[in-house]
Formats: sequence, C-alpha cells, structure tokens
Amino acid sequence: MRIAFFDSGIGGITVLAEAMRRLPQEDYLYFADTLHVPYGTKSKEDVLDYVKKSVDTIIQHDVKALVIACNTATSIAVADLRSTYGIPIIGMEPAVKPALEMNRSTGKRVLVFATPLTLKQTKYLELISRIDDQHMVDSLPLPELVEFCEALQFNPAIITAYFQEKLTGFDLSLYGTVVLGCTHFPFYKDLLRSILPDHIQIVDGSSGAVNRLKHVMEEEGNLGTDGQAEVAFLCSNQDPVYMKKMQDALAIIRNRATKK
Ligand code: SIN
Repeated sequence: MRIAFFDSGIGGITVLAEAMRRLPQEDYLYFADTLHVPYGTKSKEDVLDYVKKSVDTIIQHDVKALVIACNTATSIAVADLRSTYGIPIIGMEPAVKPALEMNRSTGKRVLVFATPLTLKQTKYLELISRIDDQHMVDSLPLPELVEFCEALQFNPAIITAYFQEKLTGFDLSLYGTVVLGCTHFPFYKDLLRSILPDHIQIVDGSSGAVNRLKHVMEEEGNLGTDGQAEVAFLCSNQDPVYMKKMQDALAIIRNRATKK
C-alpha cells in the first residue's frame, strides 16, 4: 500500500521529497487538484468542497495514510477529513513554534509567508494566539508566489523583484526567522536565502510533517519495508503535460537537496 500526498498543485512535492528521503522503503501516490489550483485565493467553502472531492478520489486507491501537503487545505479541511476517513491523516502546520523558539535569546521577530486564505483561518489564528503571547509574529500573504511556482517561474530577476516589492516597508533587521507557511514556497528557498539578510533563518513545515508521518506509521506498526520510493502521479484534470510537470518539479527539489 502507498502513502498518499495531496496538494492543490506541485507545492506538496516539497514535502513528498522529504518523505522519500526519510522513508525510502515506502511507495507513494501524489495527487494534485489541477482543476482548482490555486486554493489560497478562493473561498473557504469552495476549497472544502474541492478537498473532499480530491480525497474521495485518492481514497479509492490502495493507500494506508494521507498527507495533506498543503497548508491552505489543512487549515480548512483536516478536521473534517479525519472524522470521515479511517486512515491516518497528517496535515501541515506553519513552523511558527520552532521559529519563536529559535528567536527566544535574540528577541527578534518572526515573519510568516502563506496564502491569504491560510492566514485568515481559525486554525492559524488560534495557533498564533496560543503560542505568540509576546506578539512577536507578523504575516505576509504571497498568493502570486503560488502562481509563479505553478508556472515553474524560477527566473531570479523576476522572483527577486517580486520579493523586494512585497518586503518593502518591513524593517528586516527586526526579524530573526521567516516561516514558509505554504508548501509551494520552499521552491524559492535558495533564492530567498540570497535576498534576505544573513541573520534571518528560513524554516518550513516539511520535516515536521514527515516526523509526524513517521511517528504515526511506527505507532500503527505500518512502516513499509519493501517499497522503493516509487511515486505514482495523478491530477484531477488528468492532463499529461501536468503529469510531466510534477515529475520535473520533483527532480528540481531532489537535485537541490543532493547538491547541499
Ligand atoms: C494554493 O493552492 O494557493 C497554495 C496551497 C498551500 O497553501 O500550500
């Protein structure tokens, strides 16, 4: 049986790549909701409907666990999904808690990049009110970055200009950590590293999600032993061009990881 990964588009591939690295003895199914990507600028009701339909399709395959590798979908639908399906469901959480801990001794602030929809959800607002008692967390919606990513737009000049414009007005000397709260954004981690001042650390939720996945599978005694990190790709509009795009995106992320 495979472990399924779900996202609106190619963003969840950043989490899938981490799972393949850490759990190479599993096989995977990756599903992108290409009929409805991007989610982050749509209504909560629509996204809930899209996620449920996607998961209904995924569950028809032979899967033993599901990673909702999309912050927007997690913040809207994870509770609903857990009460509907009888397999372990792992969601994404913006890595705000580790970011606050990293800055504890310096007193620097945390800046969260995410989609507008994620930043508006009760799940995110409750997380912040629970852990940010000193009001050290700010947020910045970056919906266009999802669209750049979906278009495989990695031109450094274009992306640098975009970040510079979005960061206008932020005094970056006040910040110690940037949190990538959307699974599409780690595609831009290296570029962002070259734009942000050296003292700012960049964190994302991939390793936290894979830690939880591993822990849950261990507890269930359901870790794979004979898989080969093989990935079957599916998308809701069954577009062969997008199938190829998902493979290319996985190669991009895995190449970067091996160069480090
Ligand atoms: C999007 O579809 O707008 C991005 C989804 C995410 O939050 O990862």
